[in-house]
Amino acid sequence: MKCIVTGAAGFIGSHLCEALVSQGHEVVGIDAFIPYYPRAVKESNLQEVRCRPRFAFVEGDLRTVDLDPLMDGVEVVFHLAAMPGLMRSWSDLDLYSSCNILATQRLLEAARCHSVAHFIHASTSSVYGRNADGDEASPLRPVSPYGVTKLAAEHLCLAYRENFGVPVTILRYFSVYGPRQRPDMGYHILIRSILEGRPFPLYGDGEQTRSNTFIRDCIAATLLAARRRDVALGETFNVGGGQVVSLNEVIALVEKLAGRKARIMRRPPRPGDQRHTRADIGKAHKLLGYEPTTPVTEGLRAQFEWQMSMLGHGP
Ligand SMILES: NC(=O)c1ccc[n+]([C@@H]2O[C@H](COP(=O)([O-])OP(=O)(O)OC[C@H]3O[C@@H](n4cnc5c(N)ncnc54)[C@H](O)[C@@H]3O)[C@@H](O)[C@H]2O)c1
Repeated sequence: MKCIVTGAAGFIGSHLCEALVSQGHEVVGIDAFIPYYPRAVKESNLQEVRCRPRFAFVEGDLRTVDLDPLMDGVEVVFHLAAMPGLMRSWSDLDLYSSCNILATQRLLEAARCHSVAHFIHASTSSVYGRNADGDEASPLRPVSPYGVTKLAAEHLCLAYRENFGVPVTILRYFSVYGPRQRPDMGYHILIRSILEGRPFPLYGDGEQTRSNTFIRDCIAATLLAARRRDVALGETFNVGGGQVVSLNEVIALVEKLAGRKARIMRRPPRPGDQRHTRADIGKAHKLLGYEPTTPVTEGLRAQFEWQMSMLGHGP
């Protein structure tokens, strides 16, 4: 099939492009290199897939680019482009609302005009709010502007389905980690701090829990949603890693991998931070056959080794 992946130069998008091309699909990747983190990092995310003949890259901003020519012959749209991260969303709402809401609406409109067969939208556990520990029917009360914009984007998807029959599926990812994790994310900062012997800012008491999703499992769930279009259309799924760990446990695991202690710098919790996330993935398991397979110890080791090689420490 021919597909579009938006946010193709990002952490998750670049892995998704590689997986799709490896499965024999034709992929058009779109990204605007929004400088939330350095362009050089995103260029290196793309390095491997850019050499593949079935992959074409378009540098373009979804808020302005002419989407019509790009949609030609496209069967599936994987919409991953967004401004992620909680903290900056408090101070730069313009950017978050335009990239997360306006861009989504433009893409949905193009998908409608070109009658794409499936529109898969990447959402987040942040739409649930302070705690994300129930199933997909749990109340949606985001506590950060980021979560608010991502929830608005979900509602746009549903409005396009309701009014125009756009065939949407919403995937709510729970904190994804692994090689290429964004440099602003907690595990990335923790590993880098330990490797460089710098202090690690720990917000709160460290007892906050996460059911993080290893990147390979996140991609597996996303591909399953596309493969099982028969059951996925119109549905929303939680995508989590199946194991719950506290930040203190993760710190201990990384200390063990590094063979040295973290230099913890205690800080108060930040506004918008989630307290507990425990992905109920029963629906994805039942309808899509999704089964995460990567234990946290294994996933953290993979990310740790990737960051070591990035920092030139060698394995
Ligand atoms: N990483 C996680 O843990 C996580 C968790 C939940 C949900 N998500 C969602 O998954 C998706 C991917 O997240 P990620 O961690 O890979 O982020 P990322 O920042 O690494 O990738 C997103 C990409 O989208 C691009 N982009 C943003 N606005 C754009 C625009 N207007 N036009 C074109 N490109 C644009 C950025 O340049 C970036 O490369 C996002 O929708 C995010 O909300 C991620």
